[in-house]
Amino acid sequence: MIECKGKIAVLTSGGDAPGMNAAVRAVVRTGIAKGYEVYGVRRGYNGILNREIKLMTFQDVSEKLQHGGTFLFTARSSEFAKDEGKRKAAAICKELGIDSLVVIGGDGSFTGAKNLSKYGINVIGIPGTIDLDIAYTDYTIGFDTAVNTAMEAIDRLRETSNSHERCSVVEVMGRSAGYIALWCGIANGAEAILLQEKYNNDISALIGQIKSNREAGMTHQVIVNAEGVGHSEELAKKIEEATGIETRATVLGHLQRGGSPSARDRVYASVMGAYAVDIIDQGKKNRLVGYKGGKVYDVDIEEAFQMEKTIDDYQYEVANILGTRCEYKEI
Ligand code: F6P
Repeated sequence: MIECKGKIAVLTSGGDAPGMNAAVRAVVRTGIAKGYEVYGVRRGYNGILNREIKLMTFQDVSEKLQHGGTFLFTARSSEFAKDEGKRKAAAICKELGIDSLVVIGGDGSFTGAKNLSKYGINVIGIPGTIDLDIAYTDYTIGFDTAVNTAMEAIDRLRETSNSHERCSVVEVMGRSAGYIALWCGIANGAEAILLQEKYNNDISALIGQIKSNREAGMTHQVIVNAEGVGHSEELAKKIEEATGIETRATVLGHLQRGGSPSARDRVYASVMGAYAVDIIDQGKKNRLVGYKGGKVYDVDIEEAFQMEKTIDDYQYEVANILGTRCEYKEI
């Protein structure tokens, strides 16, 4: 009989991301393999407050790896957001003997985790968001799948846009960060990208660029617009009015959050999930698991919140150069 080393709970929180299931599976199976009882919490932090907490077996996480979404369900909890909610959640964890809580989510979920740690709960975060907007890590679970989903959709849009010689404004997710837009800008060869981090709302410059692209012979154009800039319908109308080029807006929306996770998301999620248990086993407290310099690593949660992330200027420049028509001028 193996003695139980402790109890670990795992939850998914905030917007779902493809690969979250792979991370949960890795936490559960590594936890069991290392001698822990692992509990699955349903519906994010609400699940602690409502005691939706279930002991997981190896078999409970079978057939989950290849599916998008999160089988634990997810939520953004208004009760937990208040101090009183966090105090209550910490008291429930202590009563149930849960020593460590693994939170798979984005920035908002990590803020909740950081504040929960003040009430004496050991929290370990795994970055799960399609937005790639977490400063301490170069990789977040779900980004790879989401960006590939958006890229495929934009490839399709480009075909119809080309047939009709139109301009397409396509809005991709990322309320407060433009990484999906930046990547699609490069991967789809967009003629322009609008990122909230860079765009100064100067529509006249954009219109000028679209006009000169058309004059230079571009039959159709794709403008990738980040959700944080938004107003895609309005933008499409203004472009059409100013350029005379028929323009359509498409908002890809939540379809970017679903779908079977890519190999990269499955592998990184699995490794990060296992790593989360490893650092618990090493006695580490209040850490976030991340990926930097080609390696999985962990960082103190308070320290991680001091870090800032900015759009890679070089990637942005490349996207712009590759999308703007220019030719050699004869001397
Ligand atoms: O998870 C991140 C994200 O997909 C953002 O890109 C988007 O702005 C937001 O979540 C949408 O959230 P909700 O699912 O609540 O509409």
